[in-house]
Amino acid sequence: MEEKAKLTVGDKTIELPIITGSEEEKGIDISKLRSSSGCITYDPGYGNTGACKSSITFLDGEKGILHYRGYPIEQIAENCNFVETAYLLIYGELPNRDQLENFSNSFTEHATIHEDMKNFFYGYPPYGHPMGILSAMVCSLSAYYPELAKAEPTKEEIDRIAVQLLSKIRTICAFSYKKSIGEPFVYPRPELKYIPNFLNMMFSSPSRAYEIDEDEVNAMRVLFILHADHEQNCSTSTVRIVGSSRANLFASVAAGICALWGPLHGGANQEVIEMLAMIYKDGCNVKKYVDLAKESHGEFRLMGFGHRVYKNFDPRAKIIKQKTDALLRKKGIHDPLLDVAVKLEEVALKDPYFIERKLYPNVDFYSGIIYRAIGIPLNMFPVMFAIGRLPGWIAHWKEMIEDPATKIGRPRQIYTGCTRRDFVPIEKRG
Ligand code: ACO
Repeated sequence: MEEKAKLTVGDKTIELPIITGSEEEKGIDISKLRSSSGCITYDPGYGNTGACKSSITFLDGEKGILHYRGYPIEQIAENCNFVETAYLLIYGELPNRDQLENFSNSFTEHATIHEDMKNFFYGYPPYGHPMGILSAMVCSLSAYYPELAKAEPTKEEIDRIAVQLLSKIRTICAFSYKKSIGEPFVYPRPELKYIPNFLNMMFSSPSRAYEIDEDEVNAMRVLFILHADHEQNCSTSTVRIVGSSRANLFASVAAGICALWGPLHGGANQEVIEMLAMIYKDGCNVKKYVDLAKESHGEFRLMGFGHRVYKNFDPRAKIIKQKTDALLRKKGIHDPLLDVAVKLEEVALKDPYFIERKLYPNVDFYSGIIYRAIGIPLNMFPVMFAIGRLPGWIAHWKEMIEDPATKIGRPRQIYTGCTRRDFVPIEKRG
C-alpha cells in the first residue's frame, strides 16, 4: 500500500504521497499541496526540499557516505581516472576499454578553442579573477558552436557538447592563467592525457619545459574526482534551474561557475588559504580565531568548516587530508600553512561550539595545500574546483532535460511587503 503523510491545515486534513528512494530515504510529495490546501511550503535555503529525482549521486550526511552511481567515492578515487569518472557520472556506468578509449580520444579532438576566442583573453585586465573569465568564456562557446547551443539537443549532440566542454575547459583555464602572468599560450598536446595536458598548458613556457610529475598528477586526479559531483549543491542546482528554462548547456554551466565562485561554496578553497595565511602571520594563534568564529555571530567563519549536508564528517576531506600528507612528504615540502590547518582542526573539533553544530572540515579545507604544492596560484583554486565539478554539472543537466517530469524551476514566496496602497504624487510625498 502506498505510504501517505497526513497534514492538517485549519479544519482540513489532506493526504500527501510519500516517495521512497533506492537508499530508503523518504520525501513527502507536496506537488499538489497548493491546489489542495491553498498553502505553499517555506524552506529558506531549500534544506528540506527535494527539487528532483536523480540517479547520479547518493550521499548520507549523517553517516558520511558518498556514492557516484552506486560506487563508494573511496573506490572511485582509488581506482579510476578522471575521464573514466566523468563517463560514469554522465552515462551511468563505468566504461569498458573501447568506450573509455573513444571517450578519451574525442577529448584530444576537441581540446583547442577557436583561435578568435584568444582575443577575449586580451580584453581582460591581468588582475581579473579567473572565475569571471572562465564563466564568460564558457558562455561564449555557445556563440562559436551555435549548432550545439540548442534548447533541445539530440542525444548525439549532448554527447558532443559534453566532450567539447570537458576538453575545452582545461584549455580556457590554462590560457587565462598564461594571460594573467603575461606568458604566451601553450596549446594542448594530443599525446598527453587529461591532467598532464592541463599542467603542461599551465606550466610550460618558451624558456622551460614542464616535466610531468606523477605524484602531482595523481594528487590532482584524486581532487578532480572528489569534486566531480555532489548531488543538489548550490552550483549544480543553479545549472539545473538555468537549464530548466531550456537554456543551452554552455549557458547553464557558465551560471554554475558563477554560483561555485562564492566563498560559501567553491570559492572557499581560496578563502581557506587566505585565512590560514592570516593566522600564520598573526603568530599561529589558532585559539584566537576559533574564539572569533564562536563569538562573532557568523561574521567570521572558519572557512573550510561546516556543510549543509555532512553532519558527521566529509568523506572527501578525509581522503584529501591523506593525499596532502602523502604529496608533501613525497615532494619534501614543509608547508607552514598545513601546520596551522592541522592545529586549527584539532582545536575546533574539541570545541563544544563546533561539536554542537556538527561542524567538520569540508572538501575545501585541505585541497588548497595540495594546489599550492603543485604551484597553482591562489586565485585559480576555485577554477580547479570548476574543472573537477564539470562532469557533475553535465550529468545533471543531461538527466534534467531527458526527464519528462522536468518543469521550469520557479519557486514561490511568502510576500511580506506593503499591502495595496494608492500612488502618491511627488509633491505630496514627505
Ligand atoms: N565557522 C563558524 N561557525 C559556523 C561555520 C563555520 N565555518 N559554519 C556554520 N557555522 C555556524 C553558524 O554560525 C550557525 O550557528 P548558529 O546556529 O549559532 O546560528 C550554525 O553553525 C549553522 O550554520 P548555517 O550557516 O545555518 O549552516 P548552513 O548549512 O546554512 O551552511 C555552510 C553551510 C555555508 C557550508 C557553512 O557551514 C559555512 O559558511 N562554512 C564556511 C564556508 C565553507 O567552507 N564553504 C564550503 C562548503 S563545501 C562546498 O560548498 C564545496
